[in-house]
Amino acid sequence: MKNMNNNRGKKRLVTIVYFSFSTQTAKLVHHLGKGLEKGGFHVESVKLQPIEKLSFPLNSISKTLIMMMKTFFRIRVPIKQLDESHLEKADLVIIAGPTWSYNPSGPVLAFLDRYLHLLKGKKVLPVISCRKYWKTHYKYLKKKIDMAKGQCMAPIVFTHKIKEPWSTIGTFMTIAGINPRHHSFMRKHYPRYGHTKKQLTELEARAKELAKQL
Ligand SMILES: Cc1cc2nc3c(=O)[nH]c(=O)nc-3n(C[C@H](O)[C@H](O)[C@H](O)COP(=O)(O)O)c2cc1C
Repeated sequence: MKNMNNNRGKKRLVTIVYFSFSTQTAKLVHHLGKGLEKGGFHVESVKLQPIEKLSFPLNSISKTLIMMMKTFFRIRVPIKQLDESHLEKADLVIIAGPTWSYNPSGPVLAFLDRYLHLLKGKKVLPVISCRKYWKTHYKYLKKKIDMAKGQCMAPIVFTHKIKEPWSTIGTFMTIAGINPRHHSFMRKHYPRYGHTKKQLTELEARAKELAKQL
């Protein structure tokens, strides 16, 4: 938890609830927070902590396949308890996290199961980090936020800027703990895992503008 002091004066509060397995959402959240602060918000970020530690990378092809299978069926990843006041006092709630097998990640699903009622009457902005496929993830979040009588905003989505099939292969290898850049053929097609610096800089500017509009 960051920025936990009460020195926000009259600034509006945005609480960013997020989960990040391989650091991509965490990077988005960092730049999003910076932009929102520049735009006049006070930002608190709350990272969802799985009860059983999830270590990235998985260092196993079979563990990666099993994880993908479980997340396809929306199996929850239980999380540690949150201090509800961070949601209760927020003027804007951001729910950020990766897409896992077309769905929100297991810890975000667990968060929705337990804390959905706290989104009632709140503006909620979904932020999605994914390789490419985010629409089912967003639809699920929107359905839940609507059920809670929150106001679901249009999502901010960041994909990986790598062509297919290299993006799928490279992402799978990275999660399984096999560095694609260590294989000469992949190195040519898969220069990096995750979001670019340009995307992160753009997000900061976009967040500053968004803060002014809200
Ligand atoms: C188990 C698992 C399943 C995934 N499934 C998808 C998917 O269905 N669609 C997609 O675009 N990306 C998928 N990804 C890729 C992640 O969404 C992407 O790498 C994201 O940037 C990771 O964010 P994070 O570092 O915050 O965890 C998956 C990743 C994992 C670990």
